[in-house]
Amino acid sequence: MNLKGRHLIDPNDFSLEEFKQVFDLADKMVEDREAFGSVCKGKILGTLFYEPSTRTRLSFESAMLRLGGTVLGFSDASTSSVSKGESIADTIRVLDTYADIVVMRHPKEGAPMLASEYSRVPVINGGDGGHQHPTQTLTDLLTIRRLKGSLDNLTVAFCGDLKFGRTVHSLVSTLARYNANKFVFISPAELKFPEHLKETLMEKHNIEIYETESLEEVINQVDILYMTRIQRERFFNEADYMRLKDSYILTRTKLVDAKPDMLVMHPLPRVNEIAYDVDDDQRAAYFKQAELGIYARMALMALQLGVDVNVEGK
Ligand code: CP
Repeated sequence: MNLKGRHLIDPNDFSLEEFKQVFDLADKMVEDREAFGSVCKGKILGTLFYEPSTRTRLSFESAMLRLGGTVLGFSDASTSSVSKGESIADTIRVLDTYADIVVMRHPKEGAPMLASEYSRVPVINGGDGGHQHPTQTLTDLLTIRRLKGSLDNLTVAFCGDLKFGRTVHSLVSTLARYNANKFVFISPAELKFPEHLKETLMEKHNIEIYETESLEEVINQVDILYMTRIQRERFFNEADYMRLKDSYILTRTKLVDAKPDMLVMHPLPRVNEIAYDVDDDQRAAYFKQAELGIYARMALMALQLGVDVNVEGK
């Protein structure tokens, strides 16, 4: 159970004990962030973002800066030598001499995995196509653990684009490994949770799943409502996106039927799927979730780099 030197490409790369190690350290960092302010002094994070990002890239950068390290990288592949045709393998072979740890976001599924095969430093998948987003999962689980007190015995509804939403694929496959969680999948027929992933869930974890197209039908039964954006960038056809983009809009009125302690989560960015009048509701957890992403990533990188985290606290 040592995360030093390990890659994080898929949430299944870590055991539940290893997740707990990350969350326990993240909790300490939330409690007393200043105490960890120089544990990564001299360390460099490389950020290779081949696809747009606000939270993932900037929370990684913030996390490394808050740990006392520094950051280099690109947020737009057109400004790097990728635009001249350089391969991922060659890019990472160079970057791993410039940085101690690397986070990569890429539109192609499997690109961070390929990078990890050539890298001598830990590679973190910052989101690959419609496939996986493991550090969003760390963020989501840390949020649930802190706000609900447990990662077991939860009824979790996922609403929106369940076909292309990588945050959903990563979180579902991870929550399925905890005890007695149940899933409700709410989506239009064209954006259903992929059948092959559903079969794996049922075969490996014997998970209870309910599928519906109606948010109103189930909103009163769930502990967590995980809203997602319709992923415009993954559609082949703009007309299909325009038809489906407003399939679900959560409003304060719809929340009347929900449990008083339900959490509304969203990986963000939102487009139109959560009305602004929900933001002030006690159940709205999405901005807290984005904030906790910094701590999840601070803890993750400190453990992957194997730095001394036994600091003198308050
Ligand atoms: N949640 C998330 O991945 O957001 P960004 O696309 O802004 O990084």
